[in-house]
Amino acid sequence: MDRSHAREIVANWMFPTVKSSYMGGAEDRPIIAKSEGSTFTDTDGKTYLDFQSGQMGAALGHQHPRIVHTITETMKTLLHSTNTMLNVPRLKLHETLGRILPKPLARSLFLVSGSDAIEASIDLARKATGGLDVLGFHSGLHGSTSYLTRSLSFAWSRRKHTVVAPATSSIMTPNCYRCPLKLQQPSCQFACMKISLELADANFTSQPAAFIGEPILSAGGVIVPPPGYYKVLRRELEKRGMLMIFDESQTGLGKTGNLFGFQLHAGAQPDIMTLSKHFGGGLPISAVVTTDEIAERAVGNGYFATRSHATDPLLCAAGEESVKIVVEEDMSGKAKRIETRIKAALEEMAKEIDLIGDVRGHGVLLGIELVTDRDKKTPADAATEKVAQDCQDAGLIFQLRGYQGTKNIIRLVPPMTTTDEEVDRAMAILRDALLAAQAGVKAGAPAQAAD
Ligand SMILES: Cc1ncc(COP(=O)(O)O)c(C=O)c1O
Repeated sequence: MDRSHAREIVANWMFPTVKSSYMGGAEDRPIIAKSEGSTFTDTDGKTYLDFQSGQMGAALGHQHPRIVHTITETMKTLLHSTNTMLNVPRLKLHETLGRILPKPLARSLFLVSGSDAIEASIDLARKATGGLDVLGFHSGLHGSTSYLTRSLSFAWSRRKHTVVAPATSSIMTPNCYRCPLKLQQPSCQFACMKISLELADANFTSQPAAFIGEPILSAGGVIVPPPGYYKVLRRELEKRGMLMIFDESQTGLGKTGNLFGFQLHAGAQPDIMTLSKHFGGGLPISAVVTTDEIAERAVGNGYFATRSHATDPLLCAAGEESVKIVVEEDMSGKAKRIETRIKAALEEMAKEIDLIGDVRGHGVLLGIELVTDRDKKTPADAATEKVAQDCQDAGLIFQLRGYQGTKNIIRLVPPMTTTDEEVDRAMAILRDALLAAQAGVKAGAPAQAAD
């Protein structure tokens, strides 16, 4: 399809997209024709390194041969089924997933999207505790269903939505690079948490039910809560009878260099965990996971969660294969090796490129925060946008993130199967783009004025 035909379709038939949203302006970007491994090719025949893993659903690599084989074989016998009867791929997925979960996590239920799983996990916590209020981080993002998950996605302005769900409020994200209290770790003793919980206690409208967070806040700016933070938070939640929910859409199943992202944080195993994105190897399936005890308590109070396509054999077969691939092909080890290679390259770049203010994250979930002044940490929004555009032109794709209106964080999420050669090529493209942006900032180009 040529670009003018695509523009015509966008102009006449596609639902319009808010320009400032992350989906805005898609008509000016490459139109994807096919993908494989860590690359995709556009309709003009140009190939790009995909360092955002699609919409993070291709962390096993696009078109993983085992996923393609499983889907193809399953389709021949079973595509859709019913929730009123069991089917074999569904049963096998419960068992395969259950066997890799750290105890006492054991029970799973399946849904379709990540947002579905978040809604279901909040409902589960409410039914299990009898509580209502839910806390999330003020830079967190947990989904796009128009009521509950957007209400808990404080990183997206809640003003965008017509109605916000009651009993949802935020606590301060422990962002040590930009501590709003201007304190230092560890002497701060998590002052941000203490103040936040004091406020939360005052704001609760009922018995609180849960806190929801990510082991690494991905969309919120690739923020890694400091060592010990989650362990202390867990104790505070227990005091209040609240459950800890970890949204592992972006951190689960190998991506942080651990099987699950919560394993980055000692003493912080969640009561409830959600999985989505590459859980389906590229197909949409999500899971809510919890303990026997919590599941039984919630079900005793009438809890259930499902969707018409929640246990489709095709999706469950892809889910089971993806879990097996993560374990059998040592995806965590691969993610760790990619992290080491990228961080070594960035460390070298940071010696000559002052624009690099901070490098953080784990495995294949990495963030580079660009600043025009390392001491003042002035967000280099315009320069970051230029870097992204130059990289795209040179064949490297990634997304930009930020917080409270900024967009100065490069988020790198390469598939875990990315080769050393591909990492090196991506780093060379990024280095050239950063050098060019830095030269522009130093010369006082408009990019700098806009910062
Ligand atoms: C951490 C996190 N949770 C939940 C979701 C929602 O997933 P979905 O878009 O599949 O509903 C996202 C989406 O990006 C996410 O990043």
